[in-house]
Amino acid sequence: MSRATTARKGKRRVLSGLRPTGFTHIGHIVGALENWVRLQDDYECFYTIVDWHALTTEYQKPDAIRASVLELFAEWLAVGVDPERSVVFVQSHVPQHAELYLAFAMVTPVPWLERVPTYKEQQQELAGRDLSTYGFLGYPVLQTADIALYKADVVPVGEDQIPHLELSREMVRRFNHLFGKVFPEPEPKITKTPRLPGTDGRKMSKSYGNSVNLQDDGATLREKILTMKTDPARMRRGDPGNPDVCPVYDFHKAFSKPDELELVNRECRTAGIGCVDCKKIMLGNLEPRLAPMRERRGQFIKDKDTLRDVLRRGAERAREEAERTMQEVRDAMGLVKP
Ligand code: TRP
Ligand code: SF4
Repeated sequence: MSRATTARKGKRRVLSGLRPTGFTHIGHIVGALENWVRLQDDYECFYTIVDWHALTTEYQKPDAIRASVLELFAEWLAVGVDPERSVVFVQSHVPQHAELYLAFAMVTPVPWLERVPTYKEQQQELAGRDLSTYGFLGYPVLQTADIALYKADVVPVGEDQIPHLELSREMVRRFNHLFGKVFPEPEPKITKTPRLPGTDGRKMSKSYGNSVNLQDDGATLREKILTMKTDPARMRRGDPGNPDVCPVYDFHKAFSKPDELELVNRECRTAGIGCVDCKKIMLGNLEPRLAPMRERRGQFIKDKDTLRDVLRRGAERAREEAERTMQEVRDAMGLVKP
């Protein structure tokens, strides 16, 4: 019986990935990484730095990708991703990802890919780049290969990734229908933490220059918080404010205690508290959350050789699993052994 239909010994399997394009910001920490860390208790986890995915949009900047792989890894370790318990690796170190991508490409109708909302959206958003490439269209195919290669059951992702996951499920169903049941249908596990806006209230993104990063030192962090946009209608100290439209309040929701939240919510509306004091309360909670991560990241990044070693071992473990799946896939698709 295939492993898709037998319960694997013990834990269910998780796979997730992030692209090596720049620094980790606090949106990634509360939205993804802290969740990954918790999942390690209950699942067998595979976490991958998806450098091929980074190239789908950043192919004109290979130096940026090269520079961010180890940085990203050090940041993951700093948040608590544990390579002793989880398989942590770089996607391109496991060539089976590319092979399974090719296999899925054979059975993926192009209109399925053109219908993915992020396809047209991102082409418009990143208008400066030529994203009329085959690789960019195939982004969700590669993502499906990432997941299916390890027969992952559960995929922790943000809300924006739901269409991708839905497509992965369809592709897996189609594959299983055509070639026999090889893969389980992966289910999304949506992170429930509220979305953190950037310091200016727009979506947090390094390209907007509005992100708060794991690597920001204490002074930078303080500066960014104290200059954050607030409720735009609250011009003077005496004006009442509305926390529901204030990005600082979104930060409070992620980092402050319930009684502080309640206080801010009440006192903002009556102009009982000023924005500077409100920000200071939030900063007082954010700083101690980030400081130990910042410290650990600094330690890890000093020893790049060790980081590379750990990633190499992760890739070895991943390749074993990946090759097992590929043998089944090649066989199911009629490819004869050499
Ligand atoms: N598309 C994901 C993102 O942009 C990254 C990703 C690639 C991924 N492969 C994956 C996420 C597999 C989950 C599972 O965030
Ligand atoms: Fe925002 Fe706080 Fe100012 Fe209210 S008091 S507008 S929640 S920063």
